[in-house]
Amino acid sequence: MSRYWSNIVEQLQPYVPGEQPQLAHPLKLNTNENPYPPSPRVQAALQRELGTSAESLRRYPDPASSQLRAAVAAHHGIRPEQIFVGNGSDEVLAHVFVALLKQAQALLFPDVTYSFYTSYARLYQIHYQTVPLDDALAIRIDDYPAQNGGILFPNPNAPTGRALPLSEIERLLKRNTESVVVIDEAYVDFGAESAVTLIDRYPNLLVVQTTSKARSLAGMRVGFAFGQEDLIEALNRVKDSFNSYPLDRLAQAAAQASYEDPSWFADHCARIVASRERLSGALTQLGFALIPSSANFVFARHPDFDGAELAAQLRAQEIFVRHFKLPRIDQYLRITVGTDAECDALIAALRALLAR
Ligand SMILES: Cc1ncc(COP(=O)(O)O)c(C=O)c1O
Repeated sequence: MSRYWSNIVEQLQPYVPGEQPQLAHPLKLNTNENPYPPSPRVQAALQRELGTSAESLRRYPDPASSQLRAAVAAHHGIRPEQIFVGNGSDEVLAHVFVALLKQAQALLFPDVTYSFYTSYARLYQIHYQTVPLDDALAIRIDDYPAQNGGILFPNPNAPTGRALPLSEIERLLKRNTESVVVIDEAYVDFGAESAVTLIDRYPNLLVVQTTSKARSLAGMRVGFAFGQEDLIEALNRVKDSFNSYPLDRLAQAAAQASYEDPSWFADHCARIVASRERLSGALTQLGFALIPSSANFVFARHPDFDGAELAAQLRAQEIFVRHFKLPRIDQYLRITVGTDAECDALIAALRALLAR
């Protein structure tokens, strides 16, 4: 606190990212990163962009990320004008809050969800109301009041991993036509159905995605929004009032190369899904109760062991999982799906802890 702070800063509730431990070999299953390096085409593209002298870095990057948007448009079978690009989907979401979700009525999002939503609402002084998940920690479309200034949730939800079928999203869109519906698809590639296929039919639908998870580019910070042109224009108006060059040259080249390698993408998503099922089976055998996951993480609790305590004991062994000290979910661990070897190491450590 300082007398120089603005009122806004005093009232912020900053997001706390998962720990990035400065250790030589942590077993890092706490921030839903991909355990595999990105497509080899990414590395080749980075080398091409840098050349021998990094000459291209003298110049500003393309402010519109045109080549990247063309590659992403081809992947989704949509037009480049239906795509907004930002510095990670976090930045995309921030612009969405200002451009579309700051309305007279309250923005609605689940009580258990990505905690950055609350941070953005505070930062931009947006009135919001949370809608409780049901007892199984599932989103229920019917619980969202008709009067609202916008609806936002991840599908699959985070940190539960539970997905809604596309038919439920469409049911919501049919009912809720007066405000924007934002579906945050950070984890969609691990088994949920994308709503990008619906953007032509629903003018109030905006879908947000990232390259951080399924494309293994968390370090590059590239995210997208997909929607009809007037929604995208609103985002561009905010972006060009904030930072004209949100993506540097390397990020644009890397993300574009990733979209040009569909077989790497399909193969690695399948690997993670297979490892998730294997990990889920092993945790169940140890007595954990799991929420069915369509993401690259599982959300698990043990009936006989405290969640915070388990996370702390794992951490003492340099094994990092995420624990949220929040109502309703403080007994759960959110565990990122690593390689099979990483998951085996986690299971061995948990087995020893539970046997103590
Ligand atoms: C639900 C959800 N949305 C968005 C993000 C942001 O991803 P990024 O900013 O890396 O694109 C995350 C990151 O963990 C997330 O869990």
